[in-house]
Amino acid sequence: MKLVLALAFSWMSTVAVAAGGPTYPLESIQPDYDDKVSLQRGLATYSHYCMGCHSLEYQRYERTAMDLGIELDVMVQSIVPTDKKIGDLGSIAMPSKGAAEWFGAPPPDLTLVARKRSPDWVYTYLKTFYVDPSRPLGVNNKVFPKVGMPHVLEPLQGVQRTVCKEAPIRVNGSVQTDPISGQPLTENQCGILEVVDGTGQLTPAEYDQLIYDLVNFLEYVGEPSKAKSHDLGIYVLLFLMIFFVFAYLLKREYWKDVH
Ligand code: HEC
Repeated sequence: MKLVLALAFSWMSTVAVAAGGPTYPLESIQPDYDDKVSLQRGLATYSHYCMGCHSLEYQRYERTAMDLGIELDVMVQSIVPTDKKIGDLGSIAMPSKGAAEWFGAPPPDLTLVARKRSPDWVYTYLKTFYVDPSRPLGVNNKVFPKVGMPHVLEPLQGVQRTVCKEAPIRVNGSVQTDPISGQPLTENQCGILEVVDGTGQLTPAEYDQLIYDLVNFLEYVGEPSKAKSHDLGIYVLLFLMIFFVFAYLLKREYWKDVH
């Protein structure tokens, strides 16, 4: 039995490697639709740091304001660009052809990015920009190699670079431990991310929170009706339960004479 399991696992890991090669381990987050304050902070960060390049083509400002509990006039004053109305979609003025020439690739619309890539991917992406002088913009990214986007949040996070240092050995993302002492096994590794002290305005914990809020917001934008569909799901189940009772009674009524 153990052998069969071992074979099955080794086959599965071969398939996993064949599918994408060794990939950077993603950090896992739990988006929370009910945390309106987090969503509002995420929207603020988005409008400040991302909206200049990335549109939210499939979302109206008004919808965002209503779902996030923001007064419409506050939304108009602080978020909606002056040439836009509250009922407009979140498109932007940047010509995508020009943008493609400037960055090598046009900044994609972000309405559905959290669904396309997963919230974990977007979260890890925004945390793993690092200095790479060989790239045109001087930065590279761990989960998006050769990325064409500048590290726009660097003033907040600080300058992140890769170093060689003693670090825990990971196999498929999990830390390997010494079977006798239980201590993590380490070795000298290169490519480890490290923020240069004193170069960022935020502490690492504050930066993580900022990115969490931002990704939480992007996840909401990708499926704004999810909060509502949860409620609806409960009604549908209740309806089915009640309907079942009647259907059963009816069935008994019909078959009464047959038996
Ligand atoms: C100066 C313009 C610019 C700004 C500002 C900017 N980006 Fe980007 N972004 C880009 C470009 C260009 C790409 C495409 C990179 C590529 O394909 O190589 C991109 C790609 C991305 C991607 C990957 C999309 C995918 O699935 O391929 C994500 C996610 C993203 N940006 C998020 C953000 C967030 C969040 C912000 C705000 C904190 C932001 N960007 C600010 C230019 C920008």
